[in-house]
Amino acid sequence: MQTKILMVCLGNICRSPLAEGILQSKLSTQNFIVDSAGTGGWHAGELPDKRSIATAKNHGVDITSQRARQFRKGDFDTFDIIYTMDMSNYKDILSLAPNENAKQKVKLILNELFPDENVEVPDPYYGGLNGFEEVYRMLDEACSIIAKNLQK
Ligand code: 4NP
Repeated sequence: MQTKILMVCLGNICRSPLAEGILQSKLSTQNFIVDSAGTGGWHAGELPDKRSIATAKNHGVDITSQRARQFRKGDFDTFDIIYTMDMSNYKDILSLAPNENAKQKVKLILNELFPDENVEVPDPYYGGLNGFEEVYRMLDEACSIIAKNLQK
């Protein structure tokens, strides 16, 4: 059976598309499904932000087949692990969880790198390309650990 992992941010155009692409590139598609969504639906149907696409491309990761969508309650049934990018996403998703089992699936992604420190992936939307590169590096480190642990 495939393990299904969902990456969640606010708009699903900057951070979570990068997280989806990076983790996918580290796992076999045979055993894992990686997807992403936003807590908000304003960008539904759109491609990832041009800066996310360019940053991923610089690292050899193609995220242009992705389209933004809003998180839905059914995602709690579909996915085994739900990684959020910041405390605001974390609280928003947790507040939608229908039961304890669903709550257990929700994690802050950088806690994989810095356990229990609740470090956030900063929202790069209003900044420049440097912010996207910084986000990429953080997510790449976290996803390396996630991939290693999932394939143990
Ligand atoms: P993301 O970044 O949550 O990393 O996709 C954002 C994208 C769009 C907006 C905010 C954050 N926005 O307000 O439109």
